[in-house]
Amino acid sequence: MSSTKSILITGGGGGIGLEMARLLASREHCLILVGRDAARLQAAANELRATHGTEVHVHSVDLSEPGAAQQLFEHTQKHGFHIDTLINNAGFGIVDAHIEIEPSQIYRMLQLNVVAVAELCRCYGELMKHRRAGRILNIASTAPATFSNTKPCRPVRSRFPTTPRKWASLPMRRSQLTSTISRGGSDSFELPAQRQAGLPARNLWPRTDPPRVRRS
Ligand SMILES: NC(=O)c1ccc[n+]([C@@H]2O[C@H](COP(=O)([O-])OP(=O)(O)OC[C@H]3O[C@@H](n4cnc5c(N)ncnc54)[C@H](OP(=O)(O)O)[C@@H]3O)[C@@H](O)[C@H]2O)c1
Repeated sequence: MSSTKSILITGGGGGIGLEMARLLASREHCLILVGRDAARLQAAANELRATHGTEVHVHSVDLSEPGAAQQLFEHTQKHGFHIDTLINNAGFGIVDAHIEIEPSQIYRMLQLNVVAVAELCRCYGELMKHRRAGRILNIASTAPATFSNTKPCRPVRSRFPTTPRKWASLPMRRSQLTSTISRGGSDSFELPAQRQAGLPARNLWPRTDPPRVRRS
């Protein structure tokens, strides 16, 4: 049990989530890393403890399962964690012709990327509203700004669009509530060039190296 202010990072065991954990590791806040792979979470926690002396907890859960977000919330409540900052980072994307994707995969993707995020924002957001303080960061994607068959579509807009690094450097003020959407990847898409090169659709999605996203 910890009454210290805590930062909860979904998908904190690797990728951008772990890079965010490294940026935010401090002795003032404890970290709660969430993901499916318990061994990977434990390895990340050991690294953060050893490098930063941070209090780190891990919780293994599959957030693409219905009800998992609520279970995670209840777990942190039961253990007395004071979630001051929520980072909804766990997610994945499938780049393929929509009609060729297995319906079960579409369901899991939406459950993880959309439903769990909305539920966690609801649960923790309510507590933050009562406390009149808290921060929520939703890691999104540049995809809405990039892919369109017809005309350029507008990116997801938020009041504070930002990169993970800029967000992590914002001062934590008391009595402040923020909700932020960050693009997950960098802006360096080379879509037209790849299209001209005749690459198949699934190769048009450039995965960005997470440390590079952190630096952007
Ligand atoms: N990297 C990019 O270029 C890029 C671009 C646009 C958007 N994004 C978005 O940024 C976020 C992080 O990307 P990333 O590149 O760091 O991805 P990643 O390396 O694949 O990491 C994803 C993290 O989410 C966790 N996760 C996946 N499915 C989960 C589930 N069902 N339940 C709980 N945790 C789950 C994974 O841990 P476990 O395997 O242990 O569950 C992992 O720690 C994602 O939301 C992604 O869509 C990334």
